[in-house]
Amino acid sequence: MNNLVRVTKDNDVTIITIDNPPVNALSPGVPEGISAAIDAANSDPGVKAAVVIGAGRTFVAGADIKEFIKMTSSGTRRATLLPLLLHIEDSGKPVVMAIHGQAFGGGLELAMAGHYRVASPTAQVGQPEVNLGIIPGAGGTQRLPRLIGVAKAVEMCAGGKPISAREAAALGLTDQLIEGDLLLGAVAFAREIAGKPAPKTRERTQKLGTSVENAPIFAAARDTACKKQRGLKAPLAAIDAIEAGIGSSFDEGCQAEAKLFTECLFSDQSKALIHVFFGEREVAKIPDVPRETPAIPVNRVAVVGSGTMGGGIAMVFANAGIPVLLKDVDEAALELGMGKIRKNYASSVQRGRFTQAFVDERLKLITPVLNYDAFSDVDMVVEAVFEGMALKKTVFADLDRVCRRGAILATNTSTLNIDEIAAATSRPEAVIGTHFFSPANVMRLLEIVRGKKSGKEVIATCMQLSKKLGKIGVLVGNCRGFVGNRMFGPYRREAQFLIEEGAEVEAVDQALAEFGMAMGPMATGDLAGLDVGWRIRKEYRHLEKPGIRQPFAEDRLCEMGRYGQKTGRGWYRYDESRRPSNDPEVSALVRKWSADAGIPQRQISAEEIVDRCIYALVNEGARILEEGYALRAVDIDIIYINGYGFPAYRGGPMWHADTVGLQKVYQRICEFHQQHGELWEPAPLLRRLVETGKTFAEFDKEQVAAA
Ligand code: 3HC
Repeated sequence: MNNLVRVTKDNDVTIITIDNPPVNALSPGVPEGISAAIDAANSDPGVKAAVVIGAGRTFVAGADIKEFIKMTSSGTRRATLLPLLLHIEDSGKPVVMAIHGQAFGGGLELAMAGHYRVASPTAQVGQPEVNLGIIPGAGGTQRLPRLIGVAKAVEMCAGGKPISAREAAALGLTDQLIEGDLLLGAVAFAREIAGKPAPKTRERTQKLGTSVENAPIFAAARDTACKKQRGLKAPLAAIDAIEAGIGSSFDEGCQAEAKLFTECLFSDQSKALIHVFFGEREVAKIPDVPRETPAIPVNRVAVVGSGTMGGGIAMVFANAGIPVLLKDVDEAALELGMGKIRKNYASSVQRGRFTQAFVDERLKLITPVLNYDAFSDVDMVVEAVFEGMALKKTVFADLDRVCRRGAILATNTSTLNIDEIAAATSRPEAVIGTHFFSPANVMRLLEIVRGKKSGKEVIATCMQLSKKLGKIGVLVGNCRGFVGNRMFGPYRREAQFLIEEGAEVEAVDQALAEFGMAMGPMATGDLAGLDVGWRIRKEYRHLEKPGIRQPFAEDRLCEMGRYGQKTGRGWYRYDESRRPSNDPEVSALVRKWSADAGIPQRQISAEEIVDRCIYALVNEGARILEEGYALRAVDIDIIYINGYGFPAYRGGPMWHADTVGLQKVYQRICEFHQQHGELWEPAPLLRRLVETGKTFAEFDKEQVAAA
């Protein structure tokens, strides 16, 4: 029909193949092609039914998200898929949708417009639009409840999680699972149903329930959305759209959906989440390490150090099916480490995340060892010993001795110089940083730290491996704190300054939680352990410029043994279950210390708290970008969203700054510079972007074009 949609025939069945690689998105041309193919099937007297199938790896991954960017940047609303879907549903000859890979978003909406759906057992279906800050916009909120009932439709549209083909079959969303060749099975199925009455999804009402039955479903879903997707507007809009349709006709429901869809699409949240969607894929692109760079097969690994990080990292490899040696220096340490791993897995089974059988298999993949004997066999080692340069150098000298040439030697350091560690070996090209975030088996971010001599194959391997491990790998340069922690320093510094200037601890945390951070900075400090930063500050104190203001309250709390959750006291007080409460003692102490230091006390607004902390991130981010330690602004965004609890619906700190307007951000930074001095010196890149009227996103485009 056109080059995106092919039509062939198997005797009396028309086969409509969508062929728009890589994921058969419904880009311009695809809907037109399908529509024309349906017409052709209907006008061919020799045809009894049609099958719609996707070429390549998937059915249809949804609308073309790039089209949404064009729409919002030009301010125009383009044609929707609704007329096509009605056209399919009204086809005189039955249409069978044959699903493999994914039927997501508009892909599932397309499938639901067919009269029947068959699927490969490994297929997935879902309405993930809320992850892009939008809702299904082609009747998904109306057809899905008609097929699977209101409760499950609400869960899928508001939660955004896909379901398996088996679950879809059990729910009645698909009519048959086809083992083996999908097309053959779909054609046979089409012949079977040809000539029988073809059910139109939009006319089904049996599963819709009554308003009395549905009221508690909507109330509970709104409650869940407010808790689990805090701050995100799309889930609530998706629930509204379903509710609107249940109380009226299908057409009215579609109109309500279209209105809510447009409101969501043109919102800042959706623009930010679409930026994140493409950003997560962009970070995999390294200008001087092209996709074709050969990767080193990683089939066996070793982790040195069985503490919290080492144990978590071992679990990450085991969960991906990669056998791992876990080494520590003595039996007691190793048993402690293995004990924690077993406990972690047991709680995953309890919470229903893993089955016992899965966990048993994973545990078999982790082999505790006390020496380097078996290290000659591994393809990669991740060192996760105590954070001290001398110890790390000893470990790397050992690894150099025992590991085979070609193995990757990675360090999980979060602060130390990768080049110095690499210099302890005779093969610095094999050395790289793999900075996992705690808890390693949960957090998605993996900062991959490139040393001066890290080999391209080593980088390519770590980037690809991150995907296999279920992580999002972001390549960063080797500076103090790398990207994430280097920015976190000024962020937490400002949070402490604000407390020393008169803000209450909980007011700081609350302002940032309301901004959308997963956790406030003081509670985060308590969770991580205040002593960690304190020790690092003591080690690096000699590098600080004299006369520059430094926060002091946290160091004093540490001197009092208040390390946070682990000691029951930090910025907050904790009970045995680690539940926090405000500690008036901390407030009184800080007020006294501040008075002694002559810091004037004042009322501080939530707005100032957010500006001071978030713009400190932006300013440092701009420096990092200019110095080349992050490849693009979007890399920083992805790091902050996945490693530091920055709200995805604000797109990351750099995107957020673009959204606020760099001019406005810059002015505020200049004000802080005047009020608080040198620490707030605006980053030169930020100043330049403001002077030339550009954004960080435009800076990124220029970088990509120049590469
Ligand atoms: N539109 C445009 N491009 C898309 C796309 C889409 N819907 N889905 C994926 N792509 C692109 C990716 O950007 C990537 O491009 P790149 O190679 O240039 O970086 C390429 O396709 C491959 O994607 P992945 O790297 O993500 O491939 P995976 O195999 O890991 O994952 C997938 C495949 C599970 C389909 C995943 O891409 C995905 O989840 N896609 C988005 C699904 C989605 O959100 N659909 C809803 C869209 S909105 C909608 O349909 C609205 C409707 O209601 C009107």
